Amino acid sequence: MSATITSQTGARYAGVLGIGSYRPRRVVPNAEILEHIDSSDEWIQTRSGIKERRWASEDETVLMMSVNAAKDALEDSGIDPAQVGCVIVSTVTHLYQTPAIATRVAVEVGAPTAAAFDVSAACAGFCYGVALANDMIRGGSAKYVLAIGVERLSDLTDRTDRSTAFIFADGAGAAVVGPADEPGIGPVVWGSDGTQHEVISQKESWQEAAGSYNWPHLRMDGNPVFRWASFEMAKTAQQALDVAGVKAEDLDLFVPHQANMRITDAMRRTLKLPDHVKVARDIERQGNTSAASIPLAITAMREAGEAKSGDLALIIGFGAGLVYAAQVIRLP
Ligand code: UT7
Repeated sequence: MSATITSQTGARYAGVLGIGSYRPRRVVPNAEILEHIDSSDEWIQTRSGIKERRWASEDETVLMMSVNAAKDALEDSGIDPAQVGCVIVSTVTHLYQTPAIATRVAVEVGAPTAAAFDVSAACAGFCYGVALANDMIRGGSAKYVLAIGVERLSDLTDRTDRSTAFIFADGAGAAVVGPADEPGIGPVVWGSDGTQHEVISQKESWQEAAGSYNWPHLRMDGNPVFRWASFEMAKTAQQALDVAGVKAEDLDLFVPHQANMRITDAMRRTLKLPDHVKVARDIERQGNTSAASIPLAITAMREAGEAKSGDLALIIGFGAGLVYAAQVIRLP
């Protein structure tokens, strides 16, 4: 008779224990974007809500921004970094296929032996990371997990492409997820639609680009993405509320991926969010930072006094893939 395998179980509940972010120093106003594309400040503001964005300088690498956001989140949580059992970095702009940047982040934050890997889930990356962390803690494979979303999209943006040049930006955000006395993270509603993989994508593979002088920038067919996000993602957000047993009026905050102010407003209307629910509008000053946008928006709301500890927030990420994920979280 062969031996039975011992199974592992984790904490009954998990929650977000700390949130942090890193905003690059350099502010890039619409005027600078207009030096390279035929557009106008009015068009950019009315179509996307963006007034300015942040672009990373040379020293603000994916590693540096990740480490700063992670340290901020760890400080917020009060957790000793040595206790972190896994580091997840969600990004599409770490420009090395291997190794994962998460291993270096783990060393620099003081969790040098933690399990570490990167996730490629574009603008849903932060919500994917939080979902994985939630399951790991409850499944017993880690006690504390650092979930980071980081992007240097300016590296992959063609400054002369008017369908993308004004949108994408840089930054990092992070959450420490760990055991909790009551559920701090609702069930994730997530999925993908690979039939639409071409609407936002890298123009060509690194291999194809290697033989030419063309750097493979991102391309986006914005309007189909806009329509998908405005209609389908409101349904996903509603499902995340339903499975968490939370009603729109119970919410304090709505923090969707900062893709476009009009998408945010369309979702807010469809979800019939009452006026007391504060809505993240970080895109105005930060642009679209993909996997980093949700934690960046949460820290901005905290700094503005709009978000506080204990608040119930609906978060939803969506983007290239197409991929999406939504859940209700309680703020630390
Ligand atoms: O983060 C991951 C997910 N990404 C998103 O969710 C992005 C979703 N998409 C969007 O945010 C929007 O589609 C954009 C902001 C990118 C564009 O807004 P839109 O309302 O979808 O514009 P459109 O592409 O339908 O273009 C409308 C018009 C066109 O002109 P005509 O054909 O009406 O004469 C475009 O040629 O605007 C023109 N246009 C521009 N005009 C000035 C397109 N880009 C520009 C520009 N400046 N930069």
